[in-house]
Amino acid sequence: MKPLITSSLMAVGAFLLAAGPALVAAQTSTSTGGPASAPAVDQHGPTIKDAYGKLFLIGTAGDIPGNYSSDELRLIKENFTVVTPENCMKPGPVHPEADTWNFQRPDALVKWCQDNDIAIHGHTLVWHGQTGNWFFQDANKEVLTQRLKDHISTLVGRYKGKIRSWDVVNEAINDGGNAQTAGTENLRRSNWLKIMGPDFLPLAFKFAHEADPKAKLFYNDYNIEAGAKHRSSMVLLKRLIKEGAPIYGVGIQGHWTTGRVPFAEIDKAISDYASLGLKVSISELDLTIRGASGGQLGGGGGRGARRNTPASPQDLKAQADDYAKLFSIFVKHKESIDRVTFWGLNDRRTWRFGQNPLIFDSNNLRKPAYVAIVDAMLHPNHDLANPAR
Ligand code: G3I
Repeated sequence: MKPLITSSLMAVGAFLLAAGPALVAAQTSTSTGGPASAPAVDQHGPTIKDAYGKLFLIGTAGDIPGNYSSDELRLIKENFTVVTPENCMKPGPVHPEADTWNFQRPDALVKWCQDNDIAIHGHTLVWHGQTGNWFFQDANKEVLTQRLKDHISTLVGRYKGKIRSWDVVNEAINDGGNAQTAGTENLRRSNWLKIMGPDFLPLAFKFAHEADPKAKLFYNDYNIEAGAKHRSSMVLLKRLIKEGAPIYGVGIQGHWTTGRVPFAEIDKAISDYASLGLKVSISELDLTIRGASGGQLGGGGGRGARRNTPASPQDLKAQADDYAKLFSIFVKHKESIDRVTFWGLNDRRTWRFGQNPLIFDSNNLRKPAYVAIVDAMLHPNHDLANPAR
């Protein structure tokens, strides 16, 4: 273990032990904004930045600072060391037409983060979603390659030296998969693939590296921690590395559901990616409380939902336990983990609205999950961290 981390772990441990009673008690008058019977949560104990800030970047996502309250911006400063723009740097919002760029919100986010000494992870350069059709109109491989290069070099180049890392390609692997596809990359039939072929991936990394040689470049996807999609991700990552793509790491998005978290698979996937020499980020972490995945993955809740039934104490406890188990695994893999980012600040600002997936409730109050995550650092449960046993 690197001495720095050892001393950091000891420093953090000592800090938390000193604060331990406040953490463990957690019986204060403050509610979580849920039903009257909801457990009180200590709103003033050590922060997740205190607990994890020396192990890996701990982040949130949002198109800050516009329409964020001063209370919310204070929470971000107190708790996080990195911010990911949720939408404003995606191809559609930032570059809706060939000769139209919307830099106002990206510029404001970069300025706010620099003013507050918070790192930035850029999201995302190449995606099948939220991308203007103009990229693909009347395009053959040569034309689309030039459009891709112009997009990446303009956007990455604008923030050269200011944005530490990027999701270069997002969600290129097809959903599902089976024993036959698991031995292949099983790429999604996006316009990028149909027009440029599989070269679009290494080319995107090449263009991003040329635009900012110091930026750390990631491949980002969901459900790649398990099953056929995990095996396809390993095939793809090995190919990119073999072709000399300047890839630094892989983002496991982490849109999970309480009671259905694939802990053992996550544990193994982090080891698998690290064995390729890659860093791992948990790039979009949220853990819904109720039922099936919310948001665009089907099921209840989601951005269009209007119902936000307060979670029951049992739901909050189950969520807290699963978050604690996840962070025990992240502590175990601290040498390989680059960043853990929650996909949203609070339960009011989540794409899985109504599923209460984050660690601050709709009133910006810490939930039991918050305390459980900090406590996982204070008392890392090594059994929890070895779910395969
Ligand atoms: O900004 C417009 C607004 O002007 C308009 O009035 C409104 C009407 O619909 O739409 C607004 O844009 C919405 C945008 O979020 C900002 O709120 C888009 O419709 C909506 O589709 C978009 O949803 C985002 C989704 O990606 C699709 O891009 C979610 O906020 C965002 O959390 C979600 O994040 C993705 C990651 O980028 C990739 N991984 C999966 C994750 C969840 O889908």
